[in-house]
Amino acid sequence: MMNSSNITDFNQKAINMEPVEILREVLASVDNIAVSFSGAEDIALVVMAWKIRPDIQVFTLDTGRLHAETYAFIEQVRKQYELNLDVLSPDGEALREMVGKKGLFSFYEDGHEECCGIRKIEPLRRKLASVDAWLTGQRRDQSPTRVDVPVAQVDPVFTGRNGELLKFNPLANWSSAEVWQYIRMFDLPYNPLHDRGFISIGCEPCTRPVGPNQHEREGRWWWEEATIRECGLHQDNLIARD
Ligand code: ADX
Ligand code: SF4
Repeated sequence: MMNSSNITDFNQKAINMEPVEILREVLASVDNIAVSFSGAEDIALVVMAWKIRPDIQVFTLDTGRLHAETYAFIEQVRKQYELNLDVLSPDGEALREMVGKKGLFSFYEDGHEECCGIRKIEPLRRKLASVDAWLTGQRRDQSPTRVDVPVAQVDPVFTGRNGELLKFNPLANWSSAEVWQYIRMFDLPYNPLHDRGFISIGCEPCTRPVGPNQHEREGRWWWEEATIRECGLHQDNLIARD
């Protein structure tokens, strides 16, 4: 059984493990665990986990602002894998109040924090309160804020069903190239936006394609400073760097 007292040992061991091996051990040890799926290249993580446990819980944060292509892709994946997918919506009243006061594009004026807080973080907090652990597709090579992402950790931000929440990032040590090798090797479906210059994909108004040799995160919240570009889903990446 994986818990807060042995997770550091597992994290050490995982340095030399492949994502699939990591997933096998984690899923053998934790029952009530869910995969967070953004509808981008983390399809690799979803399929890896699904191959081990076909009824694995998967959830996606439907902010209401995803690209049409992302919605279509998520639905395609749900059908193709008969995925046990929980599509999470923001609280209608909180959203209505914010949009009523500030309009639909307030993030360009006063930052993405408030909007992400309502559209992503609050639904995520609610979901995580029902599980013991979650899995994410975060990688170290994704961002200057993610160079220290561990494979396994006790989540320092959110709490789970019984208080403590474990967080696993099985792709942490993989490069983008390795993720794409996996996607191509197993002929996985992928979000068509990737063929149009999008690498990292989030909400439509807050994501744009990147050019040759631009870092993938440069397409996310590009009007803000690179070192704080986390939406709060993975706020611990910023805390760890304080
Ligand atoms: S973000 O914090 O900047 O939005 P990013 O797009 O890099 O995150 O994705 C990293 C991981 O966070 C994804 O692999 C996924 O596990 C999780 N994630 C991001 N966006 C969502 C979403 N809308 N729904 C569910 N999980 C998400
Ligand atoms: Fe709002 Fe943009 Fe955050 Fe999406 S990424 S929740 S649109 S601020």
